[in-house]
Amino acid sequence: QPDVMDKLVSLAKRRGFIFQSSEIYGGTGSVWDYGPLGVELKKNIKDRWWHALVRMRDDVEGLDAAILMHPKVWEASGHVAGFVDPLVDCKACKGRFRADKLQDARCPRKPSKQPGEHTECQLTEPRQFNLMFKTFMGALEDSASVVYLRPETAQGIFVNFLNVQQSTRQKVPFGIAQIGKAFRNEITPGNFTFRTREFEQMEMQFFVDPNADHMEWFEYWKAQRMQWHLDLGLKEDRLHFHQHGAGELAHYARAAFDIEFDFGGTLGFQEIEGVHHRGDFDLGRHQEYSGKKLEYFDQPNNRRFVPFVIETSVGADRVTLAALANAYREEEVAGESEGRVVLGLHPAIAPIKAGIFPLVKKDGMPEFAEKLGNELRRRFPVFYDETGAIGRRYRRQDEVGTPFCLTVDGQTLEDNTVTVRDRDSLTQERVAADRVGAFLDEKLAG
Ligand code: GAP
Repeated sequence: QPDVMDKLVSLAKRRGFIFQSSEIYGGTGSVWDYGPLGVELKKNIKDRWWHALVRMRDDVEGLDAAILMHPKVWEASGHVAGFVDPLVDCKACKGRFRADKLQDARCPRKPSKQPGEHTECQLTEPRQFNLMFKTFMGALEDSASVVYLRPETAQGIFVNFLNVQQSTRQKVPFGIAQIGKAFRNEITPGNFTFRTREFEQMEMQFFVDPNADHMEWFEYWKAQRMQWHLDLGLKEDRLHFHQHGAGELAHYARAAFDIEFDFGGTLGFQEIEGVHHRGDFDLGRHQEYSGKKLEYFDQPNNRRFVPFVIETSVGADRVTLAALANAYREEEVAGESEGRVVLGLHPAIAPIKAGIFPLVKKDGMPEFAEKLGNELRRRFPVFYDETGAIGRRYRRQDEVGTPFCLTVDGQTLEDNTVTVRDRDSLTQERVAADRVGAFLDEKLAG
């Protein structure tokens, strides 16, 4: 029985959600490309995050910082010294593993055993491997021109803390949010787009007064972020919090909770978002390394302080994968011999909002349907399809998560109504063609 993840990989390729990067060359290790439907789905998720975090709030500002930053940023952040995984190699079986995760790994030559358990394994001593991608800036490839691809977007926010605060005249507490690419040379990537070497983060850093209720803000953001995932349609019984124990905490964190989603199959519950209390670690370190003050001036109280940071950090690719896994279902259809595959995506994130079909290719139905499609297209992504039996056209839309299908039939030509078929309930109702836009607006809200 194939795992749901295997089914998703196949569906994602077949229908144009996600392709392996540089596939014709055999693929690049753990890098993926989003196809026509995937780019819409991921964009809808990012837009929803931006809308909730930036547009709907007057205490969070947006930012789009560069991927390349001054190399000292990564010394200050702790990534040069601390963003490392301990690695061991097996000289006999040619495997490379994280020393602290041997129990989860399999020996390539004897997959029933973990590395080191197979009698022929020859494991090296652990060595520290930094996960940052290094490159050179300018013409010289020497140590003075080394720069890194950012392993998290957060540092672009910290170094711009005062630029944003002073230009917007925000008062603490307030936040800065951004969406952008991050890169990690992961040792054990895999599980489709779950852990990749190039990915997108949606991060928000919320600056609070260290003398005020910072733990209340931490709890507030935990609750807000869990609600956002629920509003996206992720099922409640597939989400939970995981609290980091003392040994798990990142070098910057005072407290941390992951929001985990149950991907099903062998993957099970895995982190999709982290909510972290970073204290004054980051701004404090950037003050120290840059020699510039990063203090907030609290005018009414005539006080200066380095704020604490509550961070929410979520992977756009992981949420996209979670949304796909959450939505995938196979079901029987009453009265039909063949079952159907459905992506029950929340209508607001579905890549196509409506399929538009003429029942048959004659009697003016295609012309009517095309005209309706062209009107709706200005406001919604819609898909016009006149090929094949109507049942097949419905199935093709079910499989990519299109919530509504509009069919132009004989009656349309008499009374200007179309049938609207609902993906999940399979019910059909007649709606006046000039009311379909308003109908979709209503259904897509929320
Ligand atoms: N600024 C804090 C930070 O980066 P993190 O827990 O390392 O924290 C946050 O990463 C989120 O970024 C994760 O919850 C995950 O969704 C996403 N993420 C991290 N590494 C990833 C990878 N290799 N592939 C895909 N997403 C990743």
